[in-house]
Amino acid sequence: MDKQAMTAELLKAIKTYEELGFRYLPLKQDRITDLLHSRPVYAVSESREKIMTAPQPCLSLDKDSALQQLKEEIGDCTRCRLHKERKNVVFGEGSSEARLMFIGEGPGRDEDIQARPFVGEAGRLLTRLIEKMGMKREDVYIANIVKCRPPFNRDPEQDEIATCKPFVERQAEIIHPGVIMSLGRVSAQSILGMKMPIGRMRGNFFSFHNIPLMPTFHPAYLLRNPKDKWLVWDDAQKVLEKLKN
Ligand code: URA
Repeated sequence: MDKQAMTAELLKAIKTYEELGFRYLPLKQDRITDLLHSRPVYAVSESREKIMTAPQPCLSLDKDSALQQLKEEIGDCTRCRLHKERKNVVFGEGSSEARLMFIGEGPGRDEDIQARPFVGEAGRLLTRLIEKMGMKREDVYIANIVKCRPPFNRDPEQDEIATCKPFVERQAEIIHPGVIMSLGRVSAQSILGMKMPIGRMRGNFFSFHNIPLMPTFHPAYLLRNPKDKWLVWDDAQKVLEKLKN
């Protein structure tokens, strides 16, 4: 099928989905991007023309619904072995309009019990950092690489990361924050697919799905090494500067 015919077919499909009341295309964004001349399209808007000419992804149409849909898709997940010992899937929380998103490694004991990210001691330190940056916790979005607690808080394994990572990628795509801060070695290395030590990555911007990403130390590390808090503050300053631009 040539590109024109493919586009016509796609438009027909979009129309059908619209008529059925869908507000989001159940397609992967990169597939649609290929089809539509590299213009990413995510949501179904009122007019097909608007979709075809959108210079930016239509992500802002209803990000809350897109996140809710993703949460439902994850459901009571049994995709990897982590489901066996977890109490709750910890999807993530915060503002769908967040300009700043934090990505940690995976839920710990408190998070597993409460089904909320970063609510233990490390979480309280993260909340303090957010407030020092002039924001409220509910203004930002907080998620993890893996959504289920690894037993005894061990590092998530490669296959567990590979299974769960698409979900945090989709959260980032939907929210499309101005900057992401990844917390700790596991988060930075998993997101970026690099083996570089966190001490070398932190303080530098990388790109994750075209979103500037600043790796920094994990708050749990800072609880053990409070002398390094100033380095995280330094990273936070760079993030704030980037958000201003
Ligand atoms: N550590 C993480 O990486 N994530 C949490 O949600 C809590 C602790």
